[in-house]
Amino acid sequence: MINIYTKEEIEKIKKAGVINNECHKYLASLIKPGISTKFLDDEAGRFIESHGGRPASKGYEGYPRNICISLNDEIVHGIAKDNVLLKEGDIITFDILTELNGYIADSATTWPVGKVNKEKEHLMHHTEKSLYVGLKEVKAGVPLGNVSARIQQYAEKHGLSVPHEIGGHGVGKEVHEDPFIANYGKYGEGILLKEGMVLAIEPMLVTGNRHVDILDDDWTIVTRDGSPSAHYEHTVAVTKDGYEILTGE
Ligand code: MF3
Ligand code: CO
Repeated sequence: MINIYTKEEIEKIKKAGVINNECHKYLASLIKPGISTKFLDDEAGRFIESHGGRPASKGYEGYPRNICISLNDEIVHGIAKDNVLLKEGDIITFDILTELNGYIADSATTWPVGKVNKEKEHLMHHTEKSLYVGLKEVKAGVPLGNVSARIQQYAEKHGLSVPHEIGGHGVGKEVHEDPFIANYGKYGEGILLKEGMVLAIEPMLVTGNRHVDILDDDWTIVTRDGSPSAHYEHTVAVTKDGYEILTGE
């Protein structure tokens, strides 16, 4: 079942989304070679709680950290560790879920650690672009497949691949709600978008082939070929004429 949210509820999701967005900026300001991913996760938890929110990833299906932090070939759901230190040339993704007054927002951003190579720059640039290109399709009455197909088309045009096993989702009262939003698909297919749906749209693209593995921790999803991955995500509300971003600009 796909939830339809009222204007009041959407405002509440947006308030959670503001904390998310501020948390991304705060974490980005801390990035430097030598700090651990666990330090960043601790800071994220402190930041969200000091703003009255709850890190909604923590405890979700047993997930052990405040946010997801994924490095380089880790695509999504990475687990922060004390002994994993950032180094120049890494790319790091923060995927943050904040719950505030019972409503949840979800967003992700990939950042460079110092200077990164051309392959990673290309990947980050076009993955971020693919999110906005996909969002342009969002509007009441449009098939969800148009969003998926547009992301895939943009990714492939720029030489990037789309893992099939992971994608976006509805969000608002729960972390993962219907519908699943693939980052590949066909125009004209899928459910029709309706005003009041709240969707977390999240292209996760890779420079190599699309195949993924899951690590022994049962969470971290990595590229099978070791190629790097980037991830950009916003929570948006579907409107009559388009969409509203609820997780900051
Ligand atoms: N944005 C991620 C997703 O949609 C957040 C997952 S939280 C976790 O899958 F707890 F499942 F890791
Ligand atoms: Co998500």
